[in-house]
Amino acid sequence: ILRYAVLGHPVAHSLSPRIHAEFGRQLSIALDYSAIDADADEFDNALAAFAASGGVGANITLPHKQRAAAACETLSDRARRAGAANTLARGATGWHGDNTDGVGLVRDLTGRHALDLRARRTLLIGAGGAARGVAPALLDAGIGDLFIANRSADRADALADALAQPGRVHPRYLDDLRALGEFDLIVNATSAARDGGLPALPMSLVGKRTAAVDLSYGEVAIPFLAWARAAGAHDAIDGLGMLVEQAAESFALWHGKRPDTDPVYEQLIEHRA
Ligand code: ATR
Repeated sequence: ILRYAVLGHPVAHSLSPRIHAEFGRQLSIALDYSAIDADADEFDNALAAFAASGGVGANITLPHKQRAAAACETLSDRARRAGAANTLARGATGWHGDNTDGVGLVRDLTGRHALDLRARRTLLIGAGGAARGVAPALLDAGIGDLFIANRSADRADALADALAQPGRVHPRYLDDLRALGEFDLIVNATSAARDGGLPALPMSLVGKRTAAVDLSYGEVAIPFLAWARAAGAHDAIDGLGMLVEQAAESFALWHGKRPDTDPVYEQLIEHRA
């Protein structure tokens, strides 16, 4: 039986083992998928130990996506552009890293939530591993201008540089948001709520047709989505659908078969209710 795992810190509450077990059941593929807790100091050793014990595929979650990309022998184009990897596949001599977060987000928004992303003036809040994972796919999906607002300006600048579309991508300070007007799509990719506080966001960012998306789900997504609803957003979407979609992309990479995500998404919603 092939071994898979998600590595993160913390990781105990990760839904990935459940999601991949469901996909496996659906497609009659036997697999062993576990959760491995490793902090930043332990990550490289934990990944090596997993490979030594027969691990052939790994998902990488917070806070290791950038570190994981650095640990890979080869990277897909989209992982290289993101500078972050969430899906690793074991090759003969090392790991190949890919990033399915962006495709997962775009599939969830355009499929499940039936949003047309084209030409949407977009604000991405945050410039860490999560933001890096989704930014290239949003651009590829045809959004309009992309503004990147981050607490520390150097990271926003670095992400904007990496995206290499200076006419379309604009780094900004979090403190300067008031001057930017309305956005059609606002994506919260900060870990601020996990660390105990949402940055102050002016309601002037939100208009009648704004879609607000938090890349996290559950309690962590509540403050941002509550802010968006209070500001009058048309859509307030958490990251649960993206989680299931990125998992399906990873599953397809490893097993060569694409699972049906809807029943698994419905199950997770019911379980949460
Ligand atoms: P992740 O993998 O979740 O993106 P990360 O790479 O550590 O984790 O990035 C965290 C992001 O949340 C960063 O954009 C961070 O801003 P800085 O680059 O300035 O550190 C942002 N963030 C975390 N806590 C925040 C807070 N309290 N207010 C605003 N931004 C915050």
